[in-house]
Amino acid sequence: MNLFNVYPLYEMTPSYAKMCYVYDKNGNKYLDLYGGHAVISIGHSHPTYVKELSNQLSKIGYYSNYIINDLQAEVAEQIINQSKCENYNLFMCNSGAEANENALQIASFHTNKSRVIAFKNSFHGRSNAALGVTDNLKIKSKLNKLIDVTFLDFNDKQGLLNEISKNDVSAVIFESIQGVGGLDEPETEFIKFMSEVCKNYKICLIVDEVQSGFGRTGDFFAYQKHDIKPDIICMAKGMGNGFPVGGVLIKNHIKSEFGMLGTTFGGNHLACTAVLAVLKTIKDEDLLKNSKELENYFREKISKIDSIKKIKGRGLMLGLEFEFKVAKLRKKLIFKHKIFTGGSANKNLLRILPPLNIKKKHIDMLYNALKIELS
Ligand SMILES: Cc1ncc(COP(=O)(O)O)c(C=O)c1O
Repeated sequence: MNLFNVYPLYEMTPSYAKMCYVYDKNGNKYLDLYGGHAVISIGHSHPTYVKELSNQLSKIGYYSNYIINDLQAEVAEQIINQSKCENYNLFMCNSGAEANENALQIASFHTNKSRVIAFKNSFHGRSNAALGVTDNLKIKSKLNKLIDVTFLDFNDKQGLLNEISKNDVSAVIFESIQGVGGLDEPETEFIKFMSEVCKNYKICLIVDEVQSGFGRTGDFFAYQKHDIKPDIICMAKGMGNGFPVGGVLIKNHIKSEFGMLGTTFGGNHLACTAVLAVLKTIKDEDLLKNSKELENYFREKISKIDSIKKIKGRGLMLGLEFEFKVAKLRKKLIFKHKIFTGGSANKNLLRILPPLNIKKKHIDMLYNALKIELS
């Protein structure tokens, strides 16, 4: 049997990984400045992560959500402690798409409405409603097109007001910093306006922090820079450092009901342990601070490369925009310099999403490689 062929693959097979390095089966060492799409937050096979998951596996790995799982309560408590998001409840699931799917579902139950406002160039995942609110016709089937959605430009206050005042909107969903789209972010003034308008019209404001959350930008959640309190916060990726886990934080005024949501695997014992190990490491190693400090170093160092038009993003969610398409450069970085980076919908943009505990010397390695290729 063949694999269902949906991924254009790079010719490289990792067989071992440690912190920010990945090794292929021939023993070649690669610097991972991409973390498998922002997933590796505390480093591959971090000792705390390996120890905690191994211990948990020898106790109990899984049971369903119809028994009490104290670890879920601990995850909720630790997220509140570190994010300072008080007055939210936690629902755990398995991925970013699922987090967004659940968020949209909760909003529709809560408001008894269905239309969603989303933003141009958005990416929210590959389940039905998540794809419905994703702005990419190439990956949408007729099924996803049934979702009632209106796409607006970031910062279009009047457009938002016009749509919302039609009184049929259940949710506004946005990424604090667009990941797949290419690192664009709305202005603070617009985010505050959205928050205010959603409150006035009793619409759920959903922030998709699947890529930008869990310390990646130097704040626990990237939206926190704008001083708002969204109704629903979605997270995944860095939350589990590679263990498939997602979560939704739902503000207290949105009431739950038995049977409203459900998942077989979501929030199982291993998933919770992975999240707790990530949270412990973020705290012990002060990784929010490292994200901010390394962003400063990155900007200072990498901006010395003349052909870079713009450095976008925040913390360790960064993008290098050039005047040319970056596909060839990315290949050279992987195969010649042994450095992983990422692409995006913006073909001129190289995405940098390393583990949050990288050091200055790793940024220097990227700088040296770029200097060789671009001078
Ligand atoms: C902002 C955002 N939301 C949702 C998703 C989907 O997450 P997953 O692939 O875990 O379903 C992604 C994945 O890239 C993402 O970047």
